[in-house]
Amino acid sequence: MPESEAEQWIEWMEGIFHGRLNDPARADRCSRELIHYLDDLAADRRLNPRDDYFSLLANATFDGRPLTDLEIRGYTVVTFTAGHETTVNGIGNSLWYLSDHRDDRARLIAEPHLLPRAIEEFLRFMSPIQVLGRNATRDIELHGQAIHAGDLVAVSYGSANRDDRVFQNPDRCIIDRHPNRHIAFGTGPHACIGAHLARLEMRVALEEMLRRFPDHRVAEPGRLVPTPHGDLRGFWSLPARLRG
Ligand code: HEM
Repeated sequence: MPESEAEQWIEWMEGIFHGRLNDPARADRCSRELIHYLDDLAADRRLNPRDDYFSLLANATFDGRPLTDLEIRGYTVVTFTAGHETTVNGIGNSLWYLSDHRDDRARLIAEPHLLPRAIEEFLRFMSPIQVLGRNATRDIELHGQAIHAGDLVAVSYGSANRDDRVFQNPDRCIIDRHPNRHIAFGTGPHACIGAHLARLEMRVALEEMLRRFPDHRVAEPGRLVPTPHGDLRGFWSLPARLRG
């Protein structure tokens, strides 16, 4: 997406995620504008393919047939909605943690090569996606629990990431934890397609924040508003004083 459209994208994403709860008319308008934009883009790339993601998607085949317009729309909408709020929350959660844990922050400033490991740990400890749903396609028994074909199942990444059979001291954030086999990006064939981009965005954002605002402090706890979306973990509002 051209950088000049950044504000527009932020408006759409905030409108869809925040508006869904407090301003349905805004959410509706933003969804419609976004879908319209994405439909136009896919139609254009079908006729004028370039070396980009949309051209690949618009001209992809599944089981030997082209994707339908609805499938393309579904996937483009998922890509953009999955790619925004998650990363925003990943960055916000990390800044919130670092504001409170001065030793860890000082250590990351002194030893910046630890940042990639710290980011994995922030994603494990404060997983931006806590839960997603699945439709069971067949009967199965998992840990003594019967799941039947057609059941809706809540898959809790946040809980798996605190599993004490996998992680020592799971409720402690250990910024140089290694290995760190978290599943904040899911697992299996549908694992997050944007994981590399998300890690890069988080690294650049945190590097710059720590370099430019090494003393940032989030505002008094009473002004923090956790996201009301129960399936996500992050802050709806995270006021901070950037300098001293
Ligand atoms: C910190 C940031 C992010 C987190 C925590 C995250 C997490 C996840 C999770 C848990 C899933 C579901 C995996 C599963 O079903 O097993 C997923 C899927 C997906 N994510 Fe992300 N994601 C992030 C960033 C992004 C970005 C930046 C993009 C794209 C620009 C993106 C695009 C997608 C898409 C398209 C899917 C669906 C993949 C599929 O069903 O085949 N995500 N993500």
